[in-house]
Amino acid sequence: MRTGKRLVYIFLAAAAMLLSCVIVQAGSLGMPKEPIVIGVANPVRFDHDLHRSLEIPCGECHHDDKHNPRRDEEIYAITDGRELRCRNCHNQNFANTFLRRREDIFHTNCRPCHAVGVKGKRGPRKCNDCHFKNGGA
Ligand code: HEC
Ligand code: HEC
Ligand code: HEC
Ligand code: HEC
Repeated sequence: MRTGKRLVYIFLAAAAMLLSCVIVQAGSLGMPKEPIVIGVANPVRFDHDLHRSLEIPCGECHHDDKHNPRRDEEIYAITDGRELRCRNCHNQNFANTFLRRREDIFHTNCRPCHAVGVKGKRGPRKCNDCHFKNGGA
């Protein structure tokens, strides 16, 4: 009887551990492993993995509604990636009129660093090097 009970406890503990693993896996977001495509009319490829390999923190590009950089762990705790989309905030209702248009927010975010570089490597600066279709014009 005693060993039976103990076995039940062990089984329950194992089941709980397994379940929490499954929940963590399904719930946590992480970083997109494959390159993503941003935009429709003037699409741009963006490779998180490549930029991560340069040790650029998530918060360099992802910030909250007070413009505080989001910490890596903070992003990993988000369950719906759509929360990170720039247009959630930078849209026609955004208070600062200079930060409503997509070209303004993305060019301000992406281009200065490509010109300066990281670890001696510089990123693409010409329109067509980022906009792979329709020339970015
Ligand atoms: C150099 C800029 C940059 C860095 C650094 C960066 N991201 Fe992103 N990330 C973006 C852009 C741009 C998008 C697309 C946003 C949009 O569609 O509006 C994006 C999208 C995402 C999405 C997908 C959101 C969706 O549409 O479902 C996730 C998840 C994400 N980032 C996580 C991370 C994490 C985690 C890190 C750090 C390990 C990170 N990012 C670092 C620029 C960056
Ligand atoms: C949760 C809301 C929110 C989201 C999502 C968001 N932003 Fe912002 N962003 C802000 C706020 C607030 C400011 C500060 C506005 C000001 O200073 O007038 C700002 C400022 C900026 C600026 C100007 C400051 C600077 O660094 O020069 C840029 C560029 C920018 N955001 C790009 C982005 C990009 C790119 C994304 C998507 C990866 C994004 N934002 C997602 C709220 C947001
Ligand atoms: C803090 C610096 C920094 C920021 C911010 C940044 N990049 Fe880069 N990016 C780089 C560097 C450095 C390289 C060159 C890496 C190499 O040569 O290995 C690069 C390379 C690239 C490339 C060429 C490689 C490839 O994947 O095809 C593209 C495209 C690119 N970045 C897009 C973007 C976009 C879009 C954004 C804004 C959402 C952005 N980057 C923001 C530093 C940055
Ligand atoms: C470092 C990469 C990069 C470079 C270089 C770059 N862009 Fe962009 N641009 C982006 C990103 C990312 C977006 C947001 C994607 C989107 O919404 O289409 C964007 C958005 C735009 C948009 C708005 C698209 C829309 O549908 O609202 C226009 C227009 C544009 N760029 C034109 C240009 C021109 C012209 C040049 C050269 C003078 C240029 N871009 C250079 C990354 C870049």
